[in-house]
Amino acid sequence: MKNDLTAGYRTLAEEARGLLAGQSYRIANAANLSALIFHRLEQVNWAGFYFLEDDRLIVGPFQGQPACVEIGIGRGVCGVAAATRTTQRVADVHAFEGHIACDVASRSELVVPLVLGDELIGVLDIDSPVLDRFSADDQAGIEALGRIFLDSIA
Ligand code: SME
Repeated sequence: MKNDLTAGYRTLAEEARGLLAGQSYRIANAANLSALIFHRLEQVNWAGFYFLEDDRLIVGPFQGQPACVEIGIGRGVCGVAAATRTTQRVADVHAFEGHIACDVASRSELVVPLVLGDELIGVLDIDSPVLDRFSADDQAGIEALGRIFLDSIA
């Protein structure tokens, strides 16, 4: 799996593993991983976590503008990723029915569901102010970072 990543994401994955190594606190690792993603990736205006609490998503650690606190399962890009447990790579958020605009600057979005064992625990959400910012390589890279996070808190 690791070999499928681009060189940039292999480096980022190594950095993430180092950053989260030996630490299993969910909030701490989510905070550090969102900071790492936000500062390492270009053309990203929001990077962070929503965690499942009482059958809805509640915002967790993130970098970027203040965000909506609560997202229903099946609502918005995050809620669809959670409901379907599949990554949502949205080239144009304005064309995504039900998209929730937290930062009006966002134009494209990538949301990776976080499934620990059989349990959905939340999503990892990355926004960009650039249309069609996220490629299949970005998807593979961010999915790998999501797995590194899950491994760290398992
Ligand atoms: N755009 C997301 C909401 C979260 S913010 O992007 C941080 C959505 O439609 O679910």
